[in-house]
Amino acid sequence: MTTSAPPILQALRGAPLDPPPLWLMRQAGRHLPEYLETRAKARDFMDFCFRPELAIEATLQPVRRYGMDAAILFSDILTIPHALGQEVVFEPGEGPVLGPLDAADLDPSAAADRVRDRLQPVFETVAGVRAQLPPEVALLGFAGAPWTLATYMLGGRGTAGREEAARVAYLEPAKFDAVIEALVPAISALLEAQIAAGAQAVQIFDSWAGDCPATLYERAIARPTARIVDAVRAAAPEAPIIGFPRGAGTWLARYRADTHVDAVGLDERANLDWAAEHVASAGPVQGAVDPLALIAGGEALDASIDAVKRAFRGKPYVFNLGHGVRPETPIPHVERLIARVRSG
Ligand code: CP3
Repeated sequence: MTTSAPPILQALRGAPLDPPPLWLMRQAGRHLPEYLETRAKARDFMDFCFRPELAIEATLQPVRRYGMDAAILFSDILTIPHALGQEVVFEPGEGPVLGPLDAADLDPSAAADRVRDRLQPVFETVAGVRAQLPPEVALLGFAGAPWTLATYMLGGRGTAGREEAARVAYLEPAKFDAVIEALVPAISALLEAQIAAGAQAVQIFDSWAGDCPATLYERAIARPTARIVDAVRAAAPEAPIIGFPRGAGTWLARYRADTHVDAVGLDERANLDWAAEHVASAGPVQGAVDPLALIAGGEALDASIDAVKRAFRGKPYVFNLGHGVRPETPIPHVERLIARVRSG
């Protein structure tokens, strides 16, 4: 069974593969001309996410062009606040902006059903992609983590939201906890429905984990993430779960045990020797190559690739960047990366 599974699933289940299987966060996106062409057909970014024919195409584009070992569903973490009832708008050049958060959006008993009902097009996309992917290419689903989604929901936008979320956690603890209590069933339902539709593994993006004060780690990251992982695993024990606590620093050493994820995503700040000893020793890891090295290309890129391969050789490792592919990334650099990862 295991040997015929897609290589990414083998690695996420603990097999050390050489060369490591590979996908890239934000592999679908603005660095691809075909993506820009598809995006131009949508009214706005949320419309793009909710039009299966466009989202299926965007999901398949990088796999078609580059031959990655996995496709990641084309969608966004902010589909959850949208499904719960909060307005989400992508301002061109500014990123996401969220409307005011209403108490009615936070009914925990309604959260899972809202996700299942209102995100139907996302599940249709998953099924459509799976039907078109070759069997050796895995399909990954994803969701935002409670803390990262709370920063957007409470702060209204990315950067400014992170301090606002912490402020609310201290000054209005009931409000903060209500957000988390709605997010746990919402995120669990989203991941479970993606798996039911054909996703074979899922990633939980905690992109702003590094901005979570240590005093809030248990309450905002460890405990709610563990509840989600336990729920998804109970519903779909065959699907590995990757946690990506970006910027988590030394919390990485305990993140797997605290949250019960199968695999831990590393960002480019991770010290590779430290991560090999404290994170990869306990199970699969993913990532760590600097997206800026991919923009630079040449020797900087080669050295970054060789460093992760050396650090994690003999351990279950999924090759990836430490964060998403940037829009200015040259296509030949991605091609060079793939060739080098796959050469001995
Ligand atoms: O990785 C993939 O290829 C799958 C698709 C995907 C997108 N967003 C598409 C997208 C995934 C997995 C995400 C997750 C996501 N969305 C995260 C977590 C990962 C991370 O990057 O840290 C976050 C924080 C968001 C919220 C979000 N969505 C922001 C902050 C932005 C604007 C920033 C930007 O790059 O413009 C988005 C928009 C977005 N989501 C784009 C894409 C391809 C760019 C939209 C465009 O085409 O202009």
